[in-house]
Amino acid sequence: MSGTPEDAFAAEEEAEAPRRPRLAWALTGSGHDFLPCLEIIRRIGEVDVFVSKAASEVIWMYTRDRRPFPAEVRVIRDTTASAAPVGRFYKGWYHTLVIAPASSNTVAKCVFGISDTLPTNVFAQAGKCRIPIIVYACDTKPVHITAAPDRIVTVYPRAVDLENTERLRSFERTTVVESVAELERAIAARLAELAGSAGQEG
Ligand SMILES: Cc1cc2nc3c(=O)[nH]c(=O)nc-3n(C[C@H](O)[C@H](O)[C@H](O)COP(=O)(O)O)c2cc1C
Repeated sequence: MSGTPEDAFAAEEEAEAPRRPRLAWALTGSGHDFLPCLEIIRRIGEVDVFVSKAASEVIWMYTRDRRPFPAEVRVIRDTTASAAPVGRFYKGWYHTLVIAPASSNTVAKCVFGISDTLPTNVFAQAGKCRIPIIVYACDTKPVHITAAPDRIVTVYPRAVDLENTERLRSFERTTVVESVAELERAIAARLAELAGSAGQEG
């Protein structure tokens, strides 16, 4: 997708609907458990990944790989002010949104209703389309240990970060998880729920 509004609009017109509703995944610029999250996306495969500008940089810092996803994973980058790709949520392309890992910045914007990046826009639009959301919020404890690209660091989330995570828990159809293991369980439970309801329909 290049620079003009016409290009952005045309790219969305041409985007192909997935064969069946799939998972939408928003990647933010949080490096916390970044590689395990990429691994889950690779394993699931049928995923559209909405990448913030910061996440585009962080992917490179952690992987040094220009093509870190397999072909079935579609990567949607943050190139338009209007977040043109969010229209896909209104076409029924996604059954669930995962935001993982979620930066302090993205969580803060989400809980105050700000939508000015691709992850914050997909959060708002998934909410308005009543699509279930799973958020791996990293600022859940007063101290946590995390992997920077070149070292292990100790992080002390501020009161405002912890308060914003608490606010997020009160959002409709939103599950906040605190670890990769919990994230995997929440995704598995959601996929099992969808498989169960598809079985009942068939
Ligand atoms: C290597 C690296 C690791 C980062 N890790 C975190 C993190 O764990 N948590 C966080 O909130 N921000 C982290 N950041 C900062 C975010 O990328 C930054 O706040 C950015 O503005 C977030 O934008 P986004 O929320 O639109 O993705 C990290 C930045 C870098 C360069």
